[in-house]
Amino acid sequence: MEKFIIRGSGTLSGKIHVNGSKNAALPILAACLLTDEDSVLHSIPALSDCLAMKSILENFGAQVFRSSLKNSLVIKTNNLKFSQVPYELTSAIRASFLVMGPILARFKQAKLMMPGGCNIGQRPIDLHLKGFAALGAKIDVSHGQITASAKKLVGDKIYLDFPSVGATENIMMAAVLASGVTIIENSATEPEIVDLANFLNAMGANVRGAGTNTIKITGVERLHGANYTIIPDRIEAGTLMAAVAARGGEIFLEGVAAEHLKPVIAKLREMNVEVSEAATGLTVKSSGFRTLASTEIKTMPHPGFPTDLQAPFTSALALANGNSTVCETVFENRFMHVPELLKMGANIKIASRTALIEGVKRLSGARVSATDLRAGAALVIAAICADGPSEIENIHHIDRGYYKLEERLSSLGVVIERVGSEAGMVEVG
Ligand code: EPZ
Repeated sequence: MEKFIIRGSGTLSGKIHVNGSKNAALPILAACLLTDEDSVLHSIPALSDCLAMKSILENFGAQVFRSSLKNSLVIKTNNLKFSQVPYELTSAIRASFLVMGPILARFKQAKLMMPGGCNIGQRPIDLHLKGFAALGAKIDVSHGQITASAKKLVGDKIYLDFPSVGATENIMMAAVLASGVTIIENSATEPEIVDLANFLNAMGANVRGAGTNTIKITGVERLHGANYTIIPDRIEAGTLMAAVAARGGEIFLEGVAAEHLKPVIAKLREMNVEVSEAATGLTVKSSGFRTLASTEIKTMPHPGFPTDLQAPFTSALALANGNSTVCETVFENRFMHVPELLKMGANIKIASRTALIEGVKRLSGARVSATDLRAGAALVIAAICADGPSEIENIHHIDRGYYKLEERLSSLGVVIERVGSEAGMVEVG
């Protein structure tokens, strides 16, 4: 298994072009199944999750290939055939479940294995199924498999008990070809929802209100292909901002939309980190953990503080001056980075869904293990700040959300290398 060896770093400096958003690319790739015309997508990150979604589309007979432009894909869907998504594909990524809405809309039937939970929580799909049923689909769950079928899909009003990102996306995609009007109330408002709605409208759909907590979809007869550029990855950008906050330095994040990071920018400024907004991106400047101020973070659905940045910011606050609290309200088990941070000398206690953090002067390098993609990124940030080398195992989790993170961090002055399992053990800590 590959791992990262990080030998700390000086302060970070340089410029990074922020990649396209994984969490926008995945539903938009799924939405290509809604038409039999070609689509061209730009700024698709070459992440393992996107490659997995490509395989899922190919399972239905789509052809997905790289265009002449870097990070651009051509998706041909002119001869799709109905099929069940095989277990190995649905278990590869939870986001595979996002094909259910498009397939139900296209074929009036869908068959998928129950998506597994994952380390961060049970990840139920009841709200997705509630939406499909409201549109007229008959849902059957048995032997770990979900089957949905409908003679036709008819628009209806759906209230989401929780503003679920995935449920909002799946229901939008199921509703765009339904007859009549669908209203999703208490919908998620994340930038990735807006990006999906913009792509669907570029295909000829009629989706209004994305970005607010009420989305109105007026069904249309058919959709055509579209040429579309995915929004930048606010979570990749926020992770790098947390690294600068902790280790210090000054970096320019080219392409990121400040609008997508308002709660994060506000929190960084509370932590005594300078963030300046320019037309083409953000500059983040910090003197590092010696001057980092403690604070309180509570993760919430957008426009609250994003749960995907909770772990990276917990690492930064582990070194801040004073005591901080981080409350995770979105997922029930998203503190698995904490036991690993304790191995590095952090002082954090977990009380139900809140991390009580007492800032320490230094962390020390250690052998630690990534448990999920954002927890893995948190360990990288801690290792960058630590005294002595660290070894981070199970970095396949990190590769799911961060493309060649070691190359990007090396360009900013971090001493980091990716080694295979055959590499000798490194004297760590
Ligand atoms: C999306 O997951 C993201 N993934 C996650 O990013 C992100 O953390 C999450 O939204 C929240 O922002 C993608 O976009 C591919 P949810 P999703 O449905 O759609 C409950 C990352 O690190 N819920 O908004 O699965 C659920 O239990 C990943 O990039 C139900 O109760 O998130 C959870 O507590 C991790 N019933 C809460 O909603 C449902 O039917 C948030 O889940 C669905 C969800």
